[in-house]
Amino acid sequence: MSEPGKPMSATPARSGAPAPAVSPAAARARQGARAAPVTPRRIVIMKLVVFVAALYPLGRLVFFGLSNRLGANPIEFITRSTGLWTLVFLCITLAVTPLRRLTGRTELVRLRRMLGLYAFFYGLLHFTTYFWFDQWFDVHAIYKDVLKRPFITVGFGAFVLLIPLAATSFQAAVRKLGRRWQTLHRAIYAIAILAILHFWWMKAGKHDLELPKIYATIVTVLLGFRLVWAVIARRKVALAKAAGPLKR
Ligand code: HEM
Repeated sequence: MSEPGKPMSATPARSGAPAPAVSPAAARARQGARAAPVTPRRIVIMKLVVFVAALYPLGRLVFFGLSNRLGANPIEFITRSTGLWTLVFLCITLAVTPLRRLTGRTELVRLRRMLGLYAFFYGLLHFTTYFWFDQWFDVHAIYKDVLKRPFITVGFGAFVLLIPLAATSFQAAVRKLGRRWQTLHRAIYAIAILAILHFWWMKAGKHDLELPKIYATIVTVLLGFRLVWAVIARRKVALAKAAGPLKR
């Protein structure tokens, strides 16, 4: 979402000397990919577009349901569709930070909570379909299934971990929990790994690992990016410390 024709807001040179003439792309790279701020109005529009677009999987299911297009096994269709979209939203949520760092578009962070809540929403629909139409609210049968089938065990684990994240995704919780909020929300990495295991295990039984392999690669790249970024940031801090205090 670059702004064509609009110059990048370059950080003024500390020395007061005019910045050399460089292309916007080069300037952005030099500033650690920091981009021009976006107006509040554009953020509202961006949020609205994402909010509506994220309702597509639900709309599709409702449309298919009303037009009798859920196939021979509608429960299976809904379970699989909501499961896959939960994973898709988990991946999109995980992609926000790498994208922000690579593009400098800090406003992307403003979408993260909504995307995470959509992951929870589709996860809840997925679980509800299983709980309601597959198991008919039979808590004992679910308990046995969670213990018996490893793919259900890890899926259940992922969903249970998502609950506190969704419950504490609001500003009041962020303020109340302070630094603990960040620690808690690191559970998203475990959730993504459990979700991949869930998908992998389920499809391994059917000898159909094509899609799980694609999602496993996406999650590995997204988590790997964070790891590499954290290592680089730590090394930078260590180098800065070794160089001693800044002389003014
Ligand atoms: C974060 C949580 C979860 C994610 C990301 C997730 C994701 C998925 C995915 C991607 C699929 C396969 C869809 C396909 O075939 O294309 C799936 C299937 C399924 N999941 Fe989940 N799931 C989660 C939680 C759960 C939970 C909590 C349960 C039940 C306790 C569950 C039960 C199932 C069942 C029964 C299937 C269908 C199996 C079949 O059709 O043979 N999942 N899930």
